[in-house]
Amino acid sequence: MAKTVFVLNGPNLNALGKREPGIYGGKSLDDIGEDCRAAAKPLGFDVEFRQTNHEGDLVDWIHEAGDKAAGIILNPGAYGHTSIALHDALRSVAVPAIEIHLSNIHAREEFRHKSMIAPVVVGMICGFGPASYTLALQAIAERI
Ligand code: DQA
Repeated sequence: MAKTVFVLNGPNLNALGKREPGIYGGKSLDDIGEDCRAAAKPLGFDVEFRQTNHEGDLVDWIHEAGDKAAGIILNPGAYGHTSIALHDALRSVAVPAIEIHLSNIHAREEFRHKSMIAPVVVGMICGFGPASYTLALQAIAERI
């Protein structure tokens, strides 16, 4: 059975394509999900692609990934800058996780420079638009 990677998306990412396209680009989250499935195929794993606007859902899904997945790729959206709950959830699971952002959070407002989850992930990929997702799939493939 193919291993599964959970690709989890946080708040406002459902609005991709319509939301600030100058920053986030014109692709919808569904388009990015398709890109992820296509990129994962030759790497030999399946992708479980989800989005929520609710912090607790992300916590639940990280726990679920701890039981079911070989890896986690997480675009936490704004919760990445604020959420100790996401930090703790990632610490509580043994599977490797990668933090991603479409935009370069370090080149934006100061409040985006801090990531609460950076210390508990393998690494962060940001600033490559939708390619942040497919680069993270390649990176996680090295780990699992
Ligand atoms: C984001 C960056 C965050 O600062 C922002 O709150 C988002 C999107 C990104 O993918 O670039 O919602 O995670």
